[in-house]
Amino acid sequence: MTEGRKILVTGGAGFIGSHVVQGLEKRGHTVRLFDNFVGGKQNLEYFDSDIEVVEGDCCKPKDCEKALKGCDAVFHLAAHAAEGQSVFIPIFNARTNLIGSITVLAEAINAGIEDIVFTSSIATYGKPDKVPIKETAPLNAEDPYAITKKAFEDYLRVYFEIGQITPYIVRFFNVYGPRQRMDDPYRGVVPIFINKCLKGENPVIFGDGLQKRAFTYISDVVDPICSILGNKKLVNNPVNIGTEEVHTVKELAEMTIEKMGVDLEVEFVDKRTSDVKITYCDTSKAKELLGYQAKVSMEDGLEKTIEWAKEMGPQEFRYFDYTEIPKLTHKTYTSKKI
Ligand SMILES: NC(=O)c1ccc[n+]([C@@H]2O[C@H](COP(=O)([O-])OP(=O)(O)OC[C@H]3O[C@@H](n4cnc5c(N)ncnc54)[C@H](O)[C@@H]3O)[C@@H](O)[C@H]2O)c1
Repeated sequence: MTEGRKILVTGGAGFIGSHVVQGLEKRGHTVRLFDNFVGGKQNLEYFDSDIEVVEGDCCKPKDCEKALKGCDAVFHLAAHAAEGQSVFIPIFNARTNLIGSITVLAEAINAGIEDIVFTSSIATYGKPDKVPIKETAPLNAEDPYAITKKAFEDYLRVYFEIGQITPYIVRFFNVYGPRQRMDDPYRGVVPIFINKCLKGENPVIFGDGLQKRAFTYISDVVDPICSILGNKKLVNNPVNIGTEEVHTVKELAEMTIEKMGVDLEVEFVDKRTSDVKITYCDTSKAKELLGYQAKVSMEDGLEKTIEWAKEMGPQEFRYFDYTEIPKLTHKTYTSKKI
């Protein structure tokens, strides 16, 4: 049965999660949102007041038990989704992204819930030998964030193989769009560039800006993930979801400046060692098994995002002082200049 389910969305107050909540509701499901609100409560304003909200930590079994009660499927999105930071906060990363995920999994099994949808990432591929990357490529995760995503994919496979769950794993590309935090200086190059322009500051690129990304507009990941439940061909069968339109970071910065109509220019500084040069994927599996087709071009997606961002106005960047390995903390984090 794919209609009228009662679904828990962990991380439902986040950027992608808040769109997923609405996408599932639109498809006739009843949704309960579970979040500890470390990312803020600002996205709650997009929901009807009768949305069911459970505040709690996905690392705590009791919180998960309470959140999962009465549900029959879970979309697990809660995470500390910060790849670069994960190198110097590996303990915090593992706690949230792996222990938190395993806790949701264990409590789902205890509650008799079989359907689990998990938002993994193309970060799991690491530095690819060839692009675009197919799902069959080796998973050579290169940072702790990617390791935890890959590890949880394995947990899902193991509990599927012993007949406990029906997992669906989507590996998203770089997603952007309205509601993505603009005040986070460490992730989301699209909102960072937009916020810099709103503040009248030059967008800064680490390295030559020729690194390629498949920037994917939010609706192009929300539609497929919200229709994945019940797709037998995608059970325990990870699938890449994202656009095939690829741009360099330099092109993105120039497009942002042009579309915002500001008199600024792109600034180049030393590259960061952890940055992957090329990351985009083959989506033929999603096309074949999910009828997937990315619909929003970079030009249109950027315009919609800028329109939203202008309404929000410029945001102060919120720097994050916490580190577990000070000597590995990149200077772009400590200098508090982005
Ligand atoms: N944004 C992307 O480009 C992208 C790409 C690939 C995969 N993903 C994955 O998609 C998911 C959503 O990403 P996003 O960009 O919306 O991130 P986000 O930071 O906007 O949302 C994450 C949400 O999880 C919540 N959260 C964090 N720790 C929690 C905990 N311990 N207990 C309960 N809630 C907690 C946060 O408060 C936040 O609302 C993540 O799993 C991320 O790894 C995102």
